[in-house]
Amino acid sequence: MIHALRGMKDLIFDDARRYEYIIGTLSRIARNYGFEYIETPILEETRLFKRSVGESSDIVGKEMYQFTDKGGNDVCLRPEGTAGVVRAFVQAKLDRQQGQKYRFFYHGPMFRYERPQKGRLREFHQFGVESFGEKSVEEDFTLIVMLAEIFEALGIRTRVKINSLGCTACMPPYRRRLVGYLEAIAQELCPDCQRRIATNPIRVLDCKNEQCQKLLEEAPKLSQELCEQCDRDFTRLRKLLTEAGIAYEVDTHLVRGLDYYSGAAFEFVSDEIGAQSAVAGGGRYDRLVEFLEGRPTPGVGFAIGIERIMELVRMPQERREGWYLGAMTPEALDRLLPLARRLRRSHRVVVEYAPKGLKAHLKGADKAKARYCAVIGEEELAKEHIWIKDLEAREEKTVPLKELEKLEAQ
Ligand code: HAM
Repeated sequence: MIHALRGMKDLIFDDARRYEYIIGTLSRIARNYGFEYIETPILEETRLFKRSVGESSDIVGKEMYQFTDKGGNDVCLRPEGTAGVVRAFVQAKLDRQQGQKYRFFYHGPMFRYERPQKGRLREFHQFGVESFGEKSVEEDFTLIVMLAEIFEALGIRTRVKINSLGCTACMPPYRRRLVGYLEAIAQELCPDCQRRIATNPIRVLDCKNEQCQKLLEEAPKLSQELCEQCDRDFTRLRKLLTEAGIAYEVDTHLVRGLDYYSGAAFEFVSDEIGAQSAVAGGGRYDRLVEFLEGRPTPGVGFAIGIERIMELVRMPQERREGWYLGAMTPEALDRLLPLARRLRRSHRVVVEYAPKGLKAHLKGADKAKARYCAVIGEEELAKEHIWIKDLEAREEKTVPLKELEKLEAQ
């Protein structure tokens, strides 16, 4: 038997239903917040991610599904959605509409060649939003509120962590100070962190190694060294969240695993899903459009990991829906087919093609989760009637076929 690849999963039955429900709910909320749907290719040039997510990040450095296509192009399966949306934004020349705001949402598969474990897949799905052209911290606030609303709508309890990653004015001097601190304790840090001092020192802050975390307690904190503007923005963000009744923790070690962030960064975590607890992450990326050769345009967004929330979602009760049509004779089946076609214009209809007895049809309707079981037998056919049982109300009746055909319009 051929199996799905390691770290990749089929979405079938309950998982598929949950996936569809989540995407439907999130799309509705995204539209309410003024976002519109965008779809970008799953395969992109590798250099798109090198330039945006960053060569020193684990995602680009270790986890890309990268290959040379038949035309000799260096391509890879997208490891995340933001880079592709920003590329599309620049390619559509939207960066030239200065002062305009563009808000997009997307969902689909992402690929990272990670070591699979609970909550960590090689193919997983994200629902994300990206907002362009809005520099105000109110937009950061709105995206956090939106995430809070999303998790509330899905019945999922989360904690919110926020941080500020500064800007081109305050980040470089902070990075230098941090490198100085890290170099002094380098011997005691784990090998990964030792390597990162030179390549990506900020990432050291979020090392999961306990000894490293202990050593980092005394490390300089960016939140205490923000420039005036970043400090004002971060203070305002905290004030807005407090006033909105959204509980948050400031986590000075929250640095995110992608290099394009500046300013506000946030993560939503769940304490009910084990070690891979981040269910959503995002932040501001005011330089990214420039990195991809567009005109400077502020941006902010987030993405939710669908598989991580799948089991937590409180699903609405499943209800019986639509029609099951069955025939007791071959002639009756011929009468059912045109009826099914008409009803399907506005109703869910399942047709059983094999003629059989009433009991068997009722069983079939139950399995098909239909609300109504409608059957034509010899007698009904002769009178142009149809027998209908409402499986919810447990009522049955025989009506003229014409009456059912009229339902099509409702
Ligand atoms: P990210 O934090 O790398 O951010 O991913 C967002 C979410 O995707 C994570 O919080 C997690 O729930 C889920 N996720 C990540 N990797 C895996 C995996 N291997 N298996 C299952 N779920 C996973 C981004 O991707 C950014 N593009 C978010 C963003 C949008 N920032 C600004 N705009």
